[in-house]
Amino acid sequence: MKILIGGGTGFIGGALTRLLRSKGHEVGHISRRPGAGITWAELAAKGLPSCDAVVNLSGENVLNPLRRWNSEFKEEVVLSRVNPTRALREAIVSAKTPPRVWLLVSGVGYYGPSLTEEYDEDSPGGDSDFFARLVRDWEEAARLPQDTAQLVRQAVVRSGVVLGKEGGAIKQMIWPFWLGLGGAIGSGRQPFPWVHLDDMSGILAHALENESVRGVLNGVAPSVSTNGEFCAALAASLGRPAMLPMPSFVLEAMLGPERAAMLLEGQRVIPKRTLESGYKFRYPQLRAALQNIVS
Ligand SMILES: NC(=O)c1ccc[n+]([C@@H]2O[C@H](COP(=O)([O-])OP(=O)(O)OC[C@H]3O[C@@H](n4cnc5c(N)ncnc54)[C@H](OP(=O)(O)O)[C@@H]3O)[C@@H](O)[C@H]2O)c1
Repeated sequence: MKILIGGGTGFIGGALTRLLRSKGHEVGHISRRPGAGITWAELAAKGLPSCDAVVNLSGENVLNPLRRWNSEFKEEVVLSRVNPTRALREAIVSAKTPPRVWLLVSGVGYYGPSLTEEYDEDSPGGDSDFFARLVRDWEEAARLPQDTAQLVRQAVVRSGVVLGKEGGAIKQMIWPFWLGLGGAIGSGRQPFPWVHLDDMSGILAHALENESVRGVLNGVAPSVSTNGEFCAALAASLGRPAMLPMPSFVLEAMLGPERAAMLLEGQRVIPKRTLESGYKFRYPQLRAALQNIVS
């Protein structure tokens, strides 16, 4: 297949590109940077290049430690997701020969944070807080009109926290843990929906390659963990103690209360449709996933 990936130069995009190329697919990127693929301006001017599949992974890093959580940055977080998604949807709708499949990666922030509730792909969401509304608007921007939807298969993968060596949460957390300074965040009882990078790219490749996959798939491991369990397992896999919990007020001072809530609260998410669609997880259990990552 010829596959075009918006934001394919990043953490998930790099792993997905390697996996798809190893399977014999041809992969191109859409990027803000000329030379890394076609640019968004070229997409707007010339339309969608001929391809079999389109994926969108673009978005400003919400946990960017260099950016204060203010209205300007919040708008950038939203627009960096919604605008590229809308641009790709419009390019697909206008294409003379549309691709066979259109795939978006959004987030499990769609579901409201809760200590007790369990969510699968059919659970309601999209209105509890800033992140839920962001995912609602992001997925809405991807939705194809009915006539195009009859020609183009569409799927959305709602991702949990992606764990991998090269980036994401582990890259930000590994040094404090390595120095023995890591520990649970807040109470540590909040759910921590996670997925290994190999499974995230595996689920995306599965959705691209299988004609029967459509609609929402949760991109999370089937074993549910809490933040405290995750932090203890990360420390153990590094052979370090995990004794110093991070108090809520410290995180709120560092990240701002709304963004800190992403780590202080969480959602218990089940990949029901993902499993039903036939995807087999390489890393269903947290300890094995972390051992693979830190080894
Ligand atoms: N990583 C996770 O744990 C996780 C969890 C849930 C959901 N997701 C979602 O999955 C997608 C991919 O995640 P990732 O971890 O691979 O992200 P990433 O590496 O931080 O970024 C992906 C790409 O987005 C583009 N980008 C960055 N800032 C942008 C901006 N301000 N405006 C427009 N484009 C921008 C960049 O491409 P160019 O520089 O080439 O333009 C970048 O390579 C994101 O939408 C993210 O929200 C990720």
